[in-house]
Amino acid sequence: MTSKSNSKLIGGEQEFAPLDLYFGTTNSGRSSLRWILESMRLKGKRILIPDYLCQAVVDVLEAYNIEVSFYTVLSDLSFDLSILSADVDALYVVRYFGYSTAALQAVLARSRLPLIIDDVFEIQPPGISSEVHWCYFNSLRKISAVADYSQVISNRPLSIISKLYLNDFTCAKYLAKARKYDFLQRGLGREVDYLDQFVYAEQILDTEQGIFEASAKSCYVANLFFQKLSEETAIRKANLELAKSLLERKLYIDIKPAFPSFLPLWCKRRDVVRKLLMEKDIFLAIHWPTLQVARNNLSDHVLSLPLDSRYNSQDIERVCNLLRSFAHE
Ligand SMILES: Cc1ncc(COP(=O)(O)O)c(C=O)c1O
Repeated sequence: MTSKSNSKLIGGEQEFAPLDLYFGTTNSGRSSLRWILESMRLKGKRILIPDYLCQAVVDVLEAYNIEVSFYTVLSDLSFDLSILSADVDALYVVRYFGYSTAALQAVLARSRLPLIIDDVFEIQPPGISSEVHWCYFNSLRKISAVADYSQVISNRPLSIISKLYLNDFTCAKYLAKARKYDFLQRGLGREVDYLDQFVYAEQILDTEQGIFEASAKSCYVANLFFQKLSEETAIRKANLELAKSLLERKLYIDIKPAFPSFLPLWCKRRDVVRKLLMEKDIFLAIHWPTLQVARNNLSDHVLSLPLDSRYNSQDIERVCNLLRSFAHE
C-alpha cells in the first residue's frame, strides 16, 4: 500500500505516472522530420546520416540547408562510428525494419551527439538512456492501413508551430485504398485504377514542404489498428519465424524486431528476382534504393517481404518457395 491510508483508495480520477517526454503527431515521417529539425534548431547545421536511407529524408535535409556527411551501414544493418571524426551537430540513426542492432543500442545509450531517431517501421520507441537532446519519429502509414499518421517523441519540448491539414492527400490516399479493397475483396474495378490513384496521392505529399497534422480519420483508423495490436503482433512474429525457417540463412538479414513489418531479403541479383516474383503477382518493395548522393551495397540487394496480417502461413510459404527456386538467379 503506497497511499497514506491503510486501505486501498477506490474511486476518483485515474492517476498517471509522469512520462517526462514531449509528444507530437503529424501526417508523415517527413512532416515529423521537419518539425524535429525546427525543434532541434538544426537548420543550416551539419548532420551525420547513414548511406542507406530514403531519398525523401535527404530531400528534407537539403531543403533545410543541412550539410550532410555519410556513415556506412553494414550488410547486417549495423554500423561503426568509432573511426569517424566528422565534426557534426547531430547524428541521424535509423532503426532498420524495427530492429535495434547492438550498434544502435550503443548509440542510444551513450551518444554524446544530439540524436534524430528514425523508426519508420515501428510503433514504440526503443530504450534511449543517453541524456543528449533526442527526437524520435515513426510513420504508421508505412506499416498499416492508416493513410497519414506519424508520432514524434522528444526528451525536450517541441517547437510551437501551427500545423495545417493536407486534406487532398488524405482523401486521395483513402480513395486509393478503397479502390484496392474493391478490386481485391469484391472483384470490382481495374488494378490500374487504384495503382494510379496511389501514385497521384503520393505526388501530393511529395510536392508539399509543410508540417501537416494527422487527419481525424487516420487517428480513428490508428485506434482500430492499436485495438488489435496483440493479434497483429502475433501474426507478424509467426510470419517472420516461418519465413526465416524456410529460407537459407544467406537469403535474408537476420532481424529480431518486437513488432515485425518486413523481413529484409538478400538477393544476389535483386532486380531479376523481383521481376520473376512480379510474374507470379508478388510485388515486393525496395525500401531505400541508391541515393542520388551516396551508395550502399544494401540498396542493390535488399527486397522487403511483408509480414503483416494480410498474409497467412500459406502466403509466406508460397513466396519463400519461389524465393528458394530463384536463389541462384
Ligand atoms: C527511413 C525512412 N525515414 C523516413 C521516411 C519518411 O516517411 P514518410 O513517407 O511517411 O514521410 C521514409 C519513407 O519511406 C523512410 O523510409
